[in-house]
Amino acid sequence: MKLLQFFCLVSLLILDVAFGVKHELFKRCDQSGFCRRNRHYGNEISKTQNKYYSINEESVKFGHSVITGDIQKSLNQSHSVRLPFTLEILENNNIRLQIDEDRSKFEFNHKLLQKERYNEAWKYAFNGIPKISKNYKVSDISNGQFDILYGKDEQYKLEVYTEHFEIIVKYHNEPQIIFNERSFLNVEHIRSKDNHESSLLQEELNFGSFQDSFKDSKADTLPFGPESVALDVTFQGFKHVYGIPEHADSLSLRDTTASEPYRLYNVDIFEYEVDSRLPMYGAIPLLVAHKPGVSAGLFWVNGADTYVDIKKQDRSVPNALREHIDTQTHWISESGIIDVVIFIGSSPTEITSNYAKLSGQTQLPQLFSLGYHQGRWNYNDEEDVLTISENMDKYEIPCDVIWLDLEYTDSRRYFTWKKGSFPDPERMLAKLNETYRSLVTLIDPHLKLNYEVSDQVSEKNLAFLDKNGKDFHGHCWPGESLWIDTFNPNSQEFWTTLFANDSGFAGDATNLHIWNDMNEPSVFSGPETTAPKDVITYGNVEIRSDHNIYGLTYHEATFEALKERYINKRPFVLTRSFFAGSQRSAAMWTGDNMSKWEYLKVSIQMILNQNIANMPFSGADIGGFFGNPSKELLTRWYQTGIWYPFFRAHAHIDSRRREPWVPGEPYTSLIRNAIRLRYRLLPLFYTKLYQSHVNGSLVLDPLFYKFPDNRDVFEIDDQFYIDGLLIKPVTEEGAESINIYIPDDEIHYDYDTFQKFQGLGDHRISTPLEKIPVLIRGGTILSRKDRYRRSSKLTRYDPYTLVIALDSNRKAKGNLYIDDGETYNYKLADQYLYLELNFVDNILNSEILEGAGSTGGSTKVEKIQIIGDDLSFEEIFIKQNDTEWSGSFEKHDNYYVVKNPNVDLSKNWSVSFR
Ligand code: NOJ
Repeated sequence: MKLLQFFCLVSLLILDVAFGVKHELFKRCDQSGFCRRNRHYGNEISKTQNKYYSINEESVKFGHSVITGDIQKSLNQSHSVRLPFTLEILENNNIRLQIDEDRSKFEFNHKLLQKERYNEAWKYAFNGIPKISKNYKVSDISNGQFDILYGKDEQYKLEVYTEHFEIIVKYHNEPQIIFNERSFLNVEHIRSKDNHESSLLQEELNFGSFQDSFKDSKADTLPFGPESVALDVTFQGFKHVYGIPEHADSLSLRDTTASEPYRLYNVDIFEYEVDSRLPMYGAIPLLVAHKPGVSAGLFWVNGADTYVDIKKQDRSVPNALREHIDTQTHWISESGIIDVVIFIGSSPTEITSNYAKLSGQTQLPQLFSLGYHQGRWNYNDEEDVLTISENMDKYEIPCDVIWLDLEYTDSRRYFTWKKGSFPDPERMLAKLNETYRSLVTLIDPHLKLNYEVSDQVSEKNLAFLDKNGKDFHGHCWPGESLWIDTFNPNSQEFWTTLFANDSGFAGDATNLHIWNDMNEPSVFSGPETTAPKDVITYGNVEIRSDHNIYGLTYHEATFEALKERYINKRPFVLTRSFFAGSQRSAAMWTGDNMSKWEYLKVSIQMILNQNIANMPFSGADIGGFFGNPSKELLTRWYQTGIWYPFFRAHAHIDSRRREPWVPGEPYTSLIRNAIRLRYRLLPLFYTKLYQSHVNGSLVLDPLFYKFPDNRDVFEIDDQFYIDGLLIKPVTEEGAESINIYIPDDEIHYDYDTFQKFQGLGDHRISTPLEKIPVLIRGGTILSRKDRYRRSSKLTRYDPYTLVIALDSNRKAKGNLYIDDGETYNYKLADQYLYLELNFVDNILNSEILEGAGSTGGSTKVEKIQIIGDDLSFEEIFIKQNDTEWSGSFEKHDNYYVVKNPNVDLSKNWSVSFR
C-alpha cells in the first residue's frame, strides 16, 4: 500500500469521522475472481444444463464406517479430473461429505507451499475427531443410484445419484436437503497458467484466475491459480434460514439474488454498516434452516474467503393451502476442500445442540465475567483506573471489571507497560482486588518490530512468512510489525511464558484477564485491511486457505497460556475474530459499532445469531463505539445491554467520557437500576451458560427456538427469551410505548408490576424511560440474588430469592446451577449443584438433579415470591431433612411472599401451600 493511502487509512481508524464503512476497501463479488467465476458458472450452467460431475461407480467402496469413491469432473471426451470423496454418517445422524482433488500428477515445484489442498479446517472447527456411526444400511448401486438408510426406525435416507452427482437427504420420507440440485458443484482443478485457458469449460470465466486486479491485491501471486470449491444446497420447503455470522443484518437471512452474497472473511471492518452482507470480524459457517416440524443445519467446514448466495425459490402451487418456498444456497470458497456436515432434526434447538456436540460446547465462564465490564479506549493511568472503580462504589453501581485498551502499553509493545502512567501494575491489580474486581488488558497479535517479544518470535521462527519465506512485515497500531503464527504448535510454549507469573508482566496477580483484538488479523497496510492471501502460515499453507481460522488459533493460545498461569481457574478471553470452535475458549463482541439507534437494534439481531451459531457468550459495545450517544440512547443501550451474555460498555478514544455517572440524573439512576437488575439475575445467566456448556442450548432464544410451530415468529428478531423472561428492548428514540408479541396463549406477567398479559399476538406496553420491557412467562421459576454488592464475587455468600410465576394450570418450573464461580472444581461431583424447582399441585419441590455438594457459597433461600391469579393460600408447610414446620407469608393482590423459609438448596426440600 502506498504511504499516503496507508496514512489515510490509519487516520480513519483513529478519527471519529462520520463517513461509514469504506466500501472501496472490500471486494465485491464481481471484483473477487473466485466469487465472480462461480456466480457466472451458476448462471451459465442453469442455461446449458450441462452435467460435468459424476460418480465413477467402479471406484465406490462401502466400508464399515465410510463410503469412499471418486467423483469425476469431465473436461472433454478424453479428459477428466479425479476428485476423491468420502461420505460418512456421523453420530447423531449427521452426514459428512468431503470432496478433495487428486493433484498427484500435477507438477508443482513451489518450495514453500504444500501441493495438496488444505483439508485441516475441521481440526479447529470440531472438538476432536468426530464419532462415526456404523449403523446404517446401504443398497447396491443400480440404475445410477444407491441409497443409505440410517437413524432410529430408518427415518433418514440418503439417495446418492451417480450419473449426475446429486444427493437427496430425506427425513420422514420427505426430501429436505439436496446437494447439487442446480449443478453448481465446481472444483476448479489445478492447471498451469499456460494450458489454463484451453481447458476452460464453456460455462467458465477466466476472470482473476492468475492475477488479481483488485487494487491492493494486485501483488497476490496466486501460485495455484484458480482453485475454488463451490456447491449448491437446496433446503426444500424452508422459507427461512439463519446463521452464518458475522453480519450486521436481520436474523432471517435475505435473498441475495440481486445483491451481494453474504461474505465470510474475517476483516477489520471499522464503521460497519447495518443491513449489510459485508464480511465482518468473525465467521461461523453454520446455516440453520427451519420450518414447522423440521429443522436442518449445514456446516461448511472451510476457513478460506467464502461467499454464500441465498435464493428463495417460490414453488407454490396455485390455490394450495400453504405456500412452498425453497431456500437455495450456493457456497463458494476460494480454496481448500469441500467438507460439509448436514444436520436434520425436529427442532432448531436440536440443530444447534447437535452442532455443539461436533464443534464443542461453549466454555463455562467465571461468574465475574457475566458481571458488568467498564471499558473505554483508554483509561489513562493507574489513578484513572482506580478512580473509575471508586466511582462505581460512590454511585453504588456494581461492576466487576475495568478494561485497559491499547495505550497502557509502552509504545504499543504488548507485554509492556507505559511506565509513567502505570508505574506498578501489580499494585494496581492488588487494589482492584480489594474490591474483588478484575482488570482486562489488551494483547494483540501484531508485534512491533525490534523489541524483545517480536525478536524472539522471529528467532524462534514463529512468525507469519511472506511469499518469499521471510518474516511477513506489515503495519498495525505500533507501526511496522510481525505477526505470531499461532497455527504453529510451537508458538504455544512461547506464548505461555509471556503470561507466566515470572514473565514480569503482571506478577502473580490472579485478577488479570485478556482481550485479544485485531486478530482477523487486521493489517492496516494489507489488502482489505488484512494479510495478503499469499502470506504463508505453519505447515506451508497459504493464509488464503486458513485465514478465517487464524483468530481462533490466536485466542486459543491465549486461553491455554492463562490456564497455565492460573492452574485451576477458568480464564476469561475476549476475542474480536472468531471461527467455528471459538466458543470453546472465548467470548466475542460485535466490534466497532456506532452510537446510533440502528446499531442498538442490530446488536440484538447479531447476538441472537451468535446464539444460533453456538457462540452465546457475546455482546456489543454499550453506548456504541464511535460517536457520542444521547443520554436517552445511552440509557436504552444499558437497558438492552444487561441482556447481552457479555455485558461491556466501551468507547472510542475520541468519544466523550460516558461512564454511568456522567449523564447525571435521572439517567445515572436509570442506568444503575438496569445494571443492578443484571446483577440480581446473575444466577439465571450463570445457569443458562452452564446449560449451554453441557448441552449446547442457547442463552438467548429467538422466538422461533421456543415456538418452532408458530410461523408468525420466524422473522421476529427484536424480541427474545432468556429462560422464561420475554424481553423486547426499546430501540426507538422517544418510544413512549411499544408492542410486545406474545407467541402463544400462556399468561405473561409484567416483570415489575406483575400485571397480567394474555393472548397470542401484540400487546401494548408503556415505555417511559425507566421502563425495561420484560414479561415473565407463566410456568417459570427464577432464581435471583437481590442484595446490592459492588461486584459479583461479593454475592457469593448471599442467599437466593425464588420467583414463581404460575401458568394457567398453576404450575411452574425452573433450574438453578451453583458452583464456586471460578475454578474447574465443578467437574468434581461434590463441588457443584444443579437442581430443579417444580411447582405442581400447590407444592414447590426443590430437587437436586446433579452434583452433590459443597459449592463454598450460600445455598440459603431468603425469600420466595409467588405470582399468580386468584391466589388463596392460608398456610404453608416447609419440609426439609424429614422435618416439617409451618412458615409465614405476606399476601398481596396478585402475589404472595414467603420470607425466610429457612431452607437449604444443597438438600431436597419442599413447601406446600394450603
Ligand atoms: C479496535 C477495537 O475494535 C476497539 O474496541 C479498540 O478500542 C481499538 N481496536 C483499540 O485497541
